[in-house]
Amino acid sequence: MIRIDLSNTQQLLQANYVAALSSRLHIAHEQLQKGNGSGGEFTGWVHLPTDYDREEFARIKKAAKKIQSDSQALVVIGIGGSYLGARGVIECLCSPNYNLKKKNTPNIYFIGNGLSSEALSETMELLDGVDFSVNVISKSGTTTEPAVAFRFFRRMLEEKYGKAEAARRIYATTDRTKGALKSLANENGYETFVVPDDVGGRYSVLTAVGLLPIAVAGIDIDELMSGAAAMQANCVADDMASNPAWQYAAARYELYRSGKHIEILAAYEPSFRFMAEWWKQLYGESEGKENKGLFPASVEFTADLHSMGQYIQQGERHIFESVVRFGTSKDENPVPFDEVNGDGLNFLAGKSMDFIATQAMDGTLLAHVEGGVPNIIVRVGQKNAYTLGEMIYFFEYACGLSGYLLGVNPFDQPGVEAYKKNMFALLGKPGYEKLREELLNKLKR
Ligand code: PA5
Repeated sequence: MIRIDLSNTQQLLQANYVAALSSRLHIAHEQLQKGNGSGGEFTGWVHLPTDYDREEFARIKKAAKKIQSDSQALVVIGIGGSYLGARGVIECLCSPNYNLKKKNTPNIYFIGNGLSSEALSETMELLDGVDFSVNVISKSGTTTEPAVAFRFFRRMLEEKYGKAEAARRIYATTDRTKGALKSLANENGYETFVVPDDVGGRYSVLTAVGLLPIAVAGIDIDELMSGAAAMQANCVADDMASNPAWQYAAARYELYRSGKHIEILAAYEPSFRFMAEWWKQLYGESEGKENKGLFPASVEFTADLHSMGQYIQQGERHIFESVVRFGTSKDENPVPFDEVNGDGLNFLAGKSMDFIATQAMDGTLLAHVEGGVPNIIVRVGQKNAYTLGEMIYFFEYACGLSGYLLGVNPFDQPGVEAYKKNMFALLGKPGYEKLREELLNKLKR
C-alpha cells in the first residue's frame, strides 16, 4: 500500500486546504469513476486493472514465451506513451543494465522514440547476427518516428528470414480497427494486440502496449496487474483519509497555488530513471495546457545532489519535491573494514549501503525543507512487480484528479500537433504546401 507523507509540506499548505478542496475532489473523483468529465471517453484505464481482456492477456503471455524462445533480442518501436511505461518498468525491475546482464530472456532495444540516425544505426548494428523479433507500438498507427523506424526493422527482418517468417516475428500493438499500422498488420498477417479506444497513450502501460515488452523481459505481469488492482480498490474510496491519490493530488495542487510551479520527482534508485520519464510525460502532457500546469522535472539522488542539489537548496524558490521512497533493498552490502583506514571511512564499516542511503535521504530532506523546498514523500514498499503496479495506478489516478482540479482535460494533447504540422510541411508531405512556403520564408531557406 502506498503511503503519502505530507509532514514536510505543512508550512505551505493552508490549514483548511483539505476542506476547501473537498467538494472539487469529490466531483473530480466521480467524473473519473463515471467517465463523464472532460475527456471522459479516455478514462477506460480507471477500471482496467480489473476489467481487461483476459483472452488477450493470455495471448500476450504466449507471445512473450514465443519471443523468449526464438529471439535473442526484441526491438520495441514506439514513442511517448507507446514506449516510456515499458522501459520504465523493465529498467526499474530488471536494471538499466538489463541488456548487459547474464539472463535467459532476450535483450530489449527501444527505438522509434526519436529521429536520431545514430541511434538507428547503433540498434541495427547490435542486431547483426542476432535472432530478433519486433514489437511495433502505435495507437494511432501513423506517428512518424515509430513508423519510419518500423520500415528499417521490417526490412531487416524480411531480408534475414524472408517475408513469411518475418511476419511471424512482428507483433503490432495498435488500434483495434483503424490506422496505417493496423492495415499493414492485416495485409501481412502480423499478430496484433489492441490499444483500447478509451485508453490514451500515456495511460496505456497496463495494456498490451506495456505488458508485452514487460513480459518478454521476464517480469510477472499477473503481479503487476494485481498491484494495480489493489490500488484501484484503494482509489475507489471517496475520502481523503483512505485515498492516497487524493492526498497527493490535493497537496500538489495546493503547493502549485502557493507558487510552487515546478514539481521534481526524486528517487534514490538509478533504476527509477525511466519511471520518472514516464511520470513526466504523464503529468506534463495531462496538465500542461491552457497556460496552466506544474512543470514536471526529475532527479536521481544522490547523483544529482552533485549537480542539481545547489539549485534545489538555494535557487529560485518555485519548486517542491515528491520523493519516491522504496523499502529496504534485498542487497545488504555492508561497507568493508579497512585496517589502514586511509580514507577515514571506518566509522561506516559494517553499515549497509541501504542504511547509508537512508541517512542521505533524511539529511537531504531536512536540508531541502529548511531551504524552502517542501517534500511530499511517496512510500511505495519493496521494489517489485506488485508495488510497481500499485504505483502506476496511483500516479495515473492522481494525475486524472490533478487535471480536473486544474480545470483542464487531462486526456488530450492538442499542443503536440504543432511540431508535427511544421515537420510534415518541411518534409514536403502532400497537403502541407502552403505552410511549407511560410515556414521556409521564416527560416530564410
Ligand atoms: O500520451 C499520448 O497520447 C502520446 O504520448 C502518445 O502515446 C504518443 O504520441 C505516441 O502516439 P501513438 O501511440 O499514436 O504512436
